[in-house]
This record gives sequence, structure tokens and C-alpha cells, in this order.
Amino acid sequence: MVVSPKVFFDDCYGVYGIAAVNVFTMEQILGLFRAGQKANAPFIVQLTPVARDYAHAKMLSAMIGAASRCYPNAVYAVHLDHGNETHAFDAIDSKEYQSVMIDASHDDFETNVTRTRSVVSRAHEHNIMVEAELGVLAGVEDDVSIAEEDSSYTKPSEVARFVKETCCDSLAVAVGTSHGAYKFSGGQGIQFHILEKIQEKLNGFPIVLHGGSAVNTEEIERINRYGGQLARGAAGVSTDELVKSIKYGVCKINIATDTRLLWARVHREFFGDEPELFDPVIPGRKYMKEYERFMLNKFDLLGATGKA
Ligand code: G3H
Ligand code: 13P
Ligand code: NA
Ligand code: ZN
Repeated sequence: MVVSPKVFFDDCYGVYGIAAVNVFTMEQILGLFRAGQKANAPFIVQLTPVARDYAHAKMLSAMIGAASRCYPNAVYAVHLDHGNETHAFDAIDSKEYQSVMIDASHDDFETNVTRTRSVVSRAHEHNIMVEAELGVLAGVEDDVSIAEEDSSYTKPSEVARFVKETCCDSLAVAVGTSHGAYKFSGGQGIQFHILEKIQEKLNGFPIVLHGGSAVNTEEIERINRYGGQLARGAAGVSTDELVKSIKYGVCKINIATDTRLLWARVHREFFGDEPELFDPVIPGRKYMKEYERFMLNKFDLLGATGKA
């Protein structure tokens, strides 16, 4: 059943977290829906502009609709991740999304407000939620790469005015995480003192954490054992920090990198261990199974199991 993320956030605030997972392929969609149904956990399926370009927006929507018919008890929302106005308006007009993100966080405050406002007014006409972003995360996210020195934490003093002026429905913040596999190479972690101040100013308003992947060390080692060359400094958000962030008003936790690492590990091991095989169905099945297991663990960790 497809529902608005508003229903999720009203229920989960301060208590449990909603996984928002980026999907690009059929295997990822099926793995996610199977896990959601099995765990009876609400989840958000999110699509980036790159996903929409790679797999075609219409294909993705059709696959998600079909997955929902295959797993009729799955409770989910469809969200556009990191869109600009063109993507957001297209997603709104398609009626296939319950929520869109307008990512104008690289612009100055006033431009970010103006751009966000324009998406909000069109989205709200159709009861579609809008996620906006204030502050700039470092790292590689699809085809955009932000250097450490160009990133900046969200300023707690700005968040209340931003939300009031834009009328957005949730706010993505930059509190130390980054996109990709090298978030906390220096061991820095989530800046809870900033997150705490943001929560104080926002007073119950849903916060979104981008860069929520855990970047499991064992996964990195297995990839490298089979010829991968991921740097030793690969590091993500620890389970403790992820769980702690929920108490600070983080309702939505974005995850993409972990599912890519899982893909790389499953396929590298397949090609390494079974050099005589060449059937995509074999590693595909394995990936879906492992993806499902990964998500079941994530739902448990976030406290979302049984909440759908
Ligand atoms: O932001 C959406 C991207 O799909 C995330 O990519 O996992 O490389 O940060 P990433
Ligand atoms: P990760 O790189 O931690 O998976 O973050 C994904 C994300 O924020 C997508 O918007
Ligand atoms: Na951004
Ligand atoms: Zn993101």
C-alpha cells in the first residue's frame, strides 16, 4: 500500500526511523519490497535523477507498482531524491510520487528559499510532500562531487526561518555525514551538538539524514579480497550513531552506498568463485536475498520492524 511519508513521520518522530533507499534496478526493488513486507516495516523507495535516466522514469514507476502487487502488504512511499525543479515538476505531474526533494542547498539562503518555495507551491496543490535541504554535504552522490572544503554544516540559527519561509515538509541537514563510502575516514562522526540545536529550533519537525550508509568493514574487506580496490579509509555511520540520531528528530535515513557495496561484493565473489558461469540470474538471486537480509537488519536497527 502506498502512503504519504507524512503518515510515517507523524508516527515515528523520536521513536523509530524510516529507511529511504535509493533503487536503480529490478533486483533492488524486489529485495526492498520483500524485506518491507516480511518485516512489516514502512519504507521509502527513492529515485534519483540518475536512476530515472538510467532505468527510465516510467520503467522505475512501473516496476515499483508491480512490486507492490507482488508484495501487497508492503507499506511504502515513493520519493524523488536530489531533484531540481525540472525533475520535481515532472515527478509531481506524473502522480507517481508522494514526495519530492528539491536540492537547492548549494545556492545561497535566499535562492534556496525561492527555489524550494516554487516546488512547494506546486507539490502542495497535489498533496505531495517536499523535502528541502539546508547545509551542504561532502562526498560523491551520483554524478555530483562536493569537496570537503566546499561542504558546510547546517546553521541551527537558520533552520526555523527556512522552514517557515518555504513551507517545506521535512528538512535534510548537514551534520557531518557525507555521501559515498568515505564519510568518516577521519573518525569525525555525526555532530550531535549541531543536530541537537537544530532539533530545538525545529520543535518536532521531521529531519532527514542523508549519507546514512554504514559502510560495513567486512563488506569492504570481502570486495578487496576479490580484486576490489576500495581504500582502507572507507567508513560510514556507526549503528550507535544512527540509532541515537532518531532521538534527535531524524525521521528519514537515506541509504544508497551500502546497497552498492553489497552488489559489488556479491558479484565479485560470484565471478571469482564461479569462473565458468555466466548467467545473470545466479548472482541476481543471491543479491536479492542478501539485499533482503540487509534491509531486515536495517529495519530492526531503526526500530521500524512491525510498524507498518
Ligand atoms: O543521493 C543519491 C545517490 O544515489 C546517493 O549516492 O550512495 O553514492 O552517495 P551515494
Ligand atoms: P549514502 O551514500 O550514505 O548511502 O547516502 C545516500 C543518500 O543520502 C541518498 O540521498
Ligand atoms: Na545537496
Ligand atoms: Zn543524499
